[in-house]
Amino acid sequence: MVKQDLILTGLAMAEAALNITLETEEILIQNLGLVEQNHPQTWKNKLILGDCLEVLQKLPSASIDLIITSPPYADSRKKTYGGISPDEYTDWFLARALELKRVLKPEGSFILNIKEKVVDGQRHPYVLNLILGMQQQGWLWTEEYIWHKKNSYPGKWSNRFRDSWERCLHFNKQKKFKMYQESVMVPMGDWAKSRLKNLSETDKRRDNSKVESGFGKNISNWVERKMAYPTNVLHLATECGNKNHSAAFPKTIPSWFIKLFTDVDDVVLDPFAGSGTSCVAAKELGRNYVGIEIKREYCELAELNIKTAVSHTQILNNSNQNYEELNVAGANSEIYHDYLIKYVLTPFYDKRFEKLSKLKLKDVLKRKNPYLFKAKNIERAQDFVDSIITAFLSSQEETIFGNLLEGFAIHISETLYGGFKSKLNSIDLEFKRDENYYIVGIKSGTNWGNSDQISKMKDNFKKARQFLIKQGVTNNIIAVNGCMYGKDSNPLKKDVDADKTYFKYVGQEFWEFISENPNLYQEMIVPIGEEAKKKDELFKSTLDAKVNEMTFEFMQYFTNKGRIDWIKLVDYVSKKGDVKLEPVSQQLTLELEGRDSDLEEPLDLADALDFEE
Ligand SMILES: C[S@@+](CC[C@H](N)C(=O)[O-])C[C@H]1O[C@@H](n2cnc3c(N)ncnc32)[C@H](O)[C@@H]1O
Repeated sequence: MVKQDLILTGLAMAEAALNITLETEEILIQNLGLVEQNHPQTWKNKLILGDCLEVLQKLPSASIDLIITSPPYADSRKKTYGGISPDEYTDWFLARALELKRVLKPEGSFILNIKEKVVDGQRHPYVLNLILGMQQQGWLWTEEYIWHKKNSYPGKWSNRFRDSWERCLHFNKQKKFKMYQESVMVPMGDWAKSRLKNLSETDKRRDNSKVESGFGKNISNWVERKMAYPTNVLHLATECGNKNHSAAFPKTIPSWFIKLFTDVDDVVLDPFAGSGTSCVAAKELGRNYVGIEIKREYCELAELNIKTAVSHTQILNNSNQNYEELNVAGANSEIYHDYLIKYVLTPFYDKRFEKLSKLKLKDVLKRKNPYLFKAKNIERAQDFVDSIITAFLSSQEETIFGNLLEGFAIHISETLYGGFKSKLNSIDLEFKRDENYYIVGIKSGTNWGNSDQISKMKDNFKKARQFLIKQGVTNNIIAVNGCMYGKDSNPLKKDVDADKTYFKYVGQEFWEFISENPNLYQEMIVPIGEEAKKKDELFKSTLDAKVNEMTFEFMQYFTNKGRIDWIKLVDYVSKKGDVKLEPVSQQLTLELEGRDSDLEEPLDLADALDFEE
């Protein structure tokens, strides 16, 4: 079999294995006729095809913990899935809201992502009418969260500015409902420092309400704390990756509310499921889901999306980690998760496979020090080949993985602070935060750099500062040498020339500097481990095949009577001039031939080997 085929066969096997596990989940598009109230297996963890009004009538009362949905907007997107005129919208929705109220548990929540449309030059009041109508149905309008769409397109309108927010209305059936505020805490960042700086000592002890409402807050409570409660504004980018549904919301929206209002194993319902974003988020967070969608094509899309989603709790249970501890990062953790899988782990393994398939014995031999392996007393051909391949691959992997992880750091900065990859020498990332403009050179580990390299980096920091000031940057410019792992207890690296002074942030401090999330350095482990688990089995078996194949080659040329011929090996690697290689194991081939009558003709070793003469 050709080497390429070997890899493809392996991939196909891995896919087949994946399908087997997925099929056991029995994700089905359930037809309405099959839904039975008293049989949760007919509606739990199912996508139900139909008008949600009819489907909801078939679900049992008080069976859902959280409803999260983004219904079709009034009259919009007619071409894709019809539309209800703004004047009819309230009545159309209220009929469904009544059923939603019936199926929701008393302590459950309903999050409605909606925005009013402009009709004849003014905002149509159907959302406001809807809120009033729902209140008349007995819903409590508990809160209004704002989804700030960080990446909405700029534009010019004659009488308003670009629309960059939507409502996420929060309704309940009763005042007491389930809410887990700790699960969506956010990093404290510099808020406490900057806010406290402006307070007097008395204020620090108690910042009494200026309007004497009696609800003053003791700000000193927050000193030294790493995490804080978020506000009711969610700063999230719109979904750009979902090419197959025109109105998908980002997964971070349902994920955030699912963490806030439900427990593991609770049931999350999206009555307008679209591409299944809420169901995917629910599955990933270890909750049950029910999706209802009127269009079959979207149901099928959602089915596919749910099938490929992986439950984080499963992974964490497998890896014995404490999910609750790691799950405090708030809404951005899903963005990190997706990015790490798509743009770090997947290309990393692609590269590993590529390198492995191109590997040639002669290349590896010439790049690895034979004396080292002799010094380690390696005398078995297979151990020798295994060791040199592993050493050869891992020396390249560090660089490949480092570059990909650097991309992750830049992506976080881009997502959170509009950072970007720098073109300046020694600098990988530039971003603005608070009053500062950061220029960051990212390195893999803390041991990077001899004195020449460090001095060159400092010169480049100085040049970058001068350049940016010329370009009109008026902020305080701070140079940072970031290292993705390790420790350094003395981050400030002072220089007599202030322009060459910089901070060295290492390991946890680096990731916290980039994201303002002190737990990120731990949280990254989850998706990395998850993807590695999936891919590494195939990689290991491909590697084993390579080791076997190369051991066979090695034995033909570098062993004598079953022992490694070290002299021949060092000749090949180091002797002046060309060294012509002759196979030494004709004997072995003949012996094999004699014993194995199935071998019709001897192997043509010259063809099998690829030595440059
Ligand atoms: C705004 S989209 C939801 C997108 C979804 N949040 C996602 O991320 O993909 C609204 C969806 O509701 C579906 N829909 C419209 N009327 C419906 C109805 N009466 N019952 C169920 N689904 C309906 C549409 O086909 C559309 O896919």
